[in-house]
Amino acid sequence: MKHIVMAAAGLATGFALPAVAEDIKVGLMLPYSGTYASLGNEIEAGFRLGLETYGGASGATFEVLTEDTEAKPPVALGKAKKLILQDKVDVLSGIVSSGVLGAMRDLIDGSKVPLIVANAGNDEATGEACSPWITRLSFSNAQVNRPMGTWLHDQGVKKVYTLAPDYAAGHQMIDAFAASFTEAGGEIVGQQYTPFGKTQDFGPYLAKAQSSGAEAVYVFYAGGEAISFVKQYDSFGLKADLPLYGAGFLTSPLYVNAEGPAAEGVTAALHYVPTIENEANAAFTSAFKAKTGHLPSEFAVQGYDSARALVEAVKSGASDRASLGAALRKVSFEGPRGMLSIDPATNNLVQPIYVYQTVAGPDGLTQNVLAELPASADPANGCDLAQVSN
Ligand code: PHB
Repeated sequence: MKHIVMAAAGLATGFALPAVAEDIKVGLMLPYSGTYASLGNEIEAGFRLGLETYGGASGATFEVLTEDTEAKPPVALGKAKKLILQDKVDVLSGIVSSGVLGAMRDLIDGSKVPLIVANAGNDEATGEACSPWITRLSFSNAQVNRPMGTWLHDQGVKKVYTLAPDYAAGHQMIDAFAASFTEAGGEIVGQQYTPFGKTQDFGPYLAKAQSSGAEAVYVFYAGGEAISFVKQYDSFGLKADLPLYGAGFLTSPLYVNAEGPAAEGVTAALHYVPTIENEANAAFTSAFKAKTGHLPSEFAVQGYDSARALVEAVKSGASDRASLGAALRKVSFEGPRGMLSIDPATNNLVQPIYVYQTVAGPDGLTQNVLAELPASADPANGCDLAQVSN
C-alpha cells in the first residue's frame, strides 16, 4: 500500500508532522512521431497544465513518464508492458489511435492497471470490449459522427461519398455517420479507405469521389493526413462543387492554420472547440495560450481533463492501481466542456457535439459554431460496468 507516509523524524520525536502523500507514477503513452505526432505533443501539454493547475490541491506529487507509441499497436504494447512491469506505474494515460487502444485492451484488463483514455475513440473499448480499468475522458468515434448523419440530411444533402484511413477509427467514424445518414433517408453513393499513414497522394481517390454523383463528401482524417487531404481537396478544385464535411479533427484548431485558406468553409463536428463560451473554458484557453502560444484544441482539453480526473481520483483518497481504477470511473467536475458526466454503464463520457465551420477571423482561421447537438449515450453493446467493481 502506498497511501500516506509519515516522516520518521516526526515519529521519533513524538510530533505529528503533516501527512505527505506519496508520488503517483503516471505512464503517458502518446505518438511523438508519425502522422499523429502533433496530437501527442498537444495532449501532453494539456495533461501537464491540468496537473499544474489542479495537482497541488491533492497533496500528492505526480511523476510523469512518457513513451512514444508511434501510433503503432505492436510498439505501443511493448511500451505498455515496460511501464506496467518495469516502471510499475500506478496509472496509464494517453493513447491516440483506436488501433493501439484495441491492441492494449486485454493487457490493461488483465493487469488491472487503470487507463485514462485521452484520445482514442475506439467504440469497442467502451462497448462490447469495455473494462472497469478503462475510463475515457475524450470521445468515442460513434459519438462524434452519429449526430452528423441526421444533421447533414436536415441541411438538404441527400447523396454523400465517404473517405477515411483504413484502420479502426476510420471505419467506426464513417459507419456511425453512414448509419444515421441512411436512416434519415440519405444515400451513400461510394466509399473508399486509404492506407493509414502511408497515403501521400489523394488524387486517385478524389477523382472517384468527383465522378460519383455525390452532392458532398464526408471524411475522417487527422494530424498530418488531415493537412495533406484538406490542401489536396482544395487544389483539386472540388470544394466549390462538392462541399467537404467530416469529423472535426479534419480542421482541428491544432493544425488548421497549416491548412490555410483550403480549410475555409469546411463544416465538421467535435466535442470541443475553443470558441465555446463558459467560465471554465475562458480560464483554460487563456492559461493554455500563455503556456504554449496557441489556443487549445480538442486534443489539449482531452489531456487537461484526463489529468484533472486523475487529481480528482487522488483527492477522493485513491493512491494505488486498484483504488485509482475504482475512483476514476466516478469522477465528475466542471471543465472547459461543461459538467463532465461519465456513463456508469460504459465508462465513456456523455457530451454534446458541436457542428462548426472554419472561417477567417481577425487572428487567422477560427471555429464558428453552427449547432450544438444534444449529448446522447452510445449503445452499451452488452457492456454493463455499473454492476462491476474494480
Ligand atoms: C483514433 O484513432 O481513435 C483517432 C485518432 C485521431 C483522431 C481521432 C481519433 O483525431
